[in-house]
Amino acid sequence: MSKGTERRIARFSVTERTIHWMAAICFLYAALTGLALWSHKLYWLAWVLGGGSTVRGLHPWGGTFFALVLGFMFRQWASQMGLDSEDKAWLRHAYRYATNEEEGLPEVARFNGGQKMLFWLQSGSTLVLLASGLVLWWPELMPRTLLLAAVLIHPLAAIASIGGIILHIYMGTAAVPGAFRGMIHGWVSPGWAASHHPKWYRAK
Ligand code: HEM
Repeated sequence: MSKGTERRIARFSVTERTIHWMAAICFLYAALTGLALWSHKLYWLAWVLGGGSTVRGLHPWGGTFFALVLGFMFRQWASQMGLDSEDKAWLRHAYRYATNEEEGLPEVARFNGGQKMLFWLQSGSTLVLLASGLVLWWPELMPRTLLLAAVLIHPLAAIASIGGIILHIYMGTAAVPGAFRGMIHGWVSPGWAASHHPKWYRAK
């Protein structure tokens, strides 16, 4: 079948993709400016991103925008991200997915257990980042113990979040060919849908 006549299975709507890519842009900006402020070894990032005071001034705004967009992402996907017993069984055997031996794994619907875990990791870590970030934004208004807690918690939550997104980018680009097209153009091939999300494909 030629490319032009390839059957298309709708995967993500325009709204879903717009929210996703806005979250990705805000996340990258907040993460890179945050890393520049965190370690002097990464301060060169500040020069790339407009200088020290620009980065210091805009990092909290980047983080706030990211949290806001993630709120929209939460509203659009939370009802589809609940983990059922099949997702839990899938997660227990996720190493088989990682080694491409998917036989015997429970069939996946629209999102697999790993994708659902990423969603909850990002939702939780974003809440923690926002709360601790607000404390760090107005240090003069905060009690000392709260400020110390925020100094510790903010980078830990950022590391968890950045680690999760590095894995997510790898899965969405290199590890699962065809997934990126779904998030760019909104559709996937029937073969991709049947092999990665068979339960969802059959319900279409
Ligand atoms: C910056 C580079 C990013 C790339 C290349 C990327 C890529 C993708 C792709 C290809 C999908 C579709 C997967 C599928 O159809 O099964 C997806 C879905 C998703 N993305 Fe991203 N993404 C990025 C950043 C982010 C960020 C920053 C967040 C949120 C913090 C995020 C959250 C999600 C969620 C919750 C889903 C749905 C569940 C999943 O597939 O994991 N993404 N992404």
